[in-house]
Amino acid sequence: MDASLLPRHIGIIMDGNGRWAKKRLLPRTAGHIQGAKAFRRCLRHCIDLGIGCVTFYAFSTENWKRPKEEVNAIMKLFSDYLDEGLDISEDDVVMRFIGDVTPLSDALKKKISDLQSDTADNHGLVCNIAVNYGGRDDILHAVKRLIKEGADPETLDEAALSDKLYTAGLPDVDLIIRPSGEQRISNFLIWQAAYAEYVFMDVLWPDFSEKDLDAAIEEYSKRNRRFGGI
Ligand code: IPE
Ligand code: IPE
Ligand code: MG
Repeated sequence: MDASLLPRHIGIIMDGNGRWAKKRLLPRTAGHIQGAKAFRRCLRHCIDLGIGCVTFYAFSTENWKRPKEEVNAIMKLFSDYLDEGLDISEDDVVMRFIGDVTPLSDALKKKISDLQSDTADNHGLVCNIAVNYGGRDDILHAVKRLIKEGADPETLDEAALSDKLYTAGLPDVDLIIRPSGEQRISNFLIWQAAYAEYVFMDVLWPDFSEKDLDAAIEEYSKRNRRFGGI
């Protein structure tokens, strides 16, 4: 595909792990384990395709409502992932976490900050993992920073606010993919997605394959983006 037709920034809502497990009469955690494998596959494929930036929605500010055992199992999976290291050449990717990491355990926070600093100077794809992320929280957090820094309401503009978001410096999201059949944004990148294209797919996240990513990008490449123009 012509590189100019590729999205510069893809957002992926990794949804459907619980239903994948339920269909197999397995505990929900089994779905999250399979989901982590799908994440690795998809990240690798994004690198192979030459995508510049991808954001994976892993845990929302609302997901704390889930049973404690499930939340703990998800946190353990993050931790295991960070221990195992990337099964891709670390040189190929800049890993960042977006969202409010404050409530995470100290051990997890340390692993996150180590991975971020180890990959910060790389030049490949920027991979954001959204953990305890909410679009509203992102905007609120940005506004608080602007106020603390004494921003002037007369001159404040959209670029200045964008620059305080967790995604500062990255392009707005062009394509949001949501598997699992749900057709909603669930508080993901709401500012950054103002002009995103959406592709909703019926596949459950643990089954999401390279072909599904290709199909979503293909669909995106056919859309006529007008941004309010004609
Ligand atoms: C997504 O899968 C993972 C997280 C939100 C952490 P779900 O756990 O939401 O799976 P379903 O939607 O119940 O199938
Ligand atoms: C969105 O999925 C959040 C993540 C995938 C991390 P949810 O399963 O939490 O979303 P809702 O509750 O169906 O909107
Ligand atoms: Mg869900």
